Amino acid sequence: MRIAIAADHGGFALKAQMVEQLRAEGHVVLDLGTHSAERSDYPDFARAVGLALQEGRAERGILICGSGVGATVAANKMRGIRACVCHDTYSAHQGVEHDDMNVLVLGGRVIGIALAMEIARAFLGARFSNAEPYLSRLRKVQQMEDDLKH
Ligand code: RB5
Repeated sequence: MRIAIAADHGGFALKAQMVEQLRAEGHVVLDLGTHSAERSDYPDFARAVGLALQEGRAERGILICGSGVGATVAANKMRGIRACVCHDTYSAHQGVEHDDMNVLVLGGRVIGIALAMEIARAFLGARFSNAEPYLSRLRKVQQMEDDLKH
């Protein structure tokens, strides 16, 4: 799968390990930074991953900040982006199957590489069910997005 991944300084170390492992598992990984442990701002990386999805350069996104919270809040401000911090495998696949989650967010200060990869595999291996009642719920979410004034 084509994956866009990015992290701030709080997720930089975990991202480096995940990029390597995801590539070793055959994924095409677009690494959108950060590329050093220097302090950086999570909204910049949420925007970069969101744009990659909106422009069709990636099918799924992975974002990492310290807790996973800031990147989740920021990513969900973008049209068509459904991001959630998941630190368990059940939420990671069910979030795709029921809610069409397209960005997995992780906390680099919360979990380690082994669990992060199990969660990523659950997320990447899942597909949206495309059946009711999930479809009509998704349409309601999309309507809320369309109702936003710009
Ligand atoms: C950075 O120190 C930290 O605030 C950020 O990575 C993230 O945890 C925000 O939610």
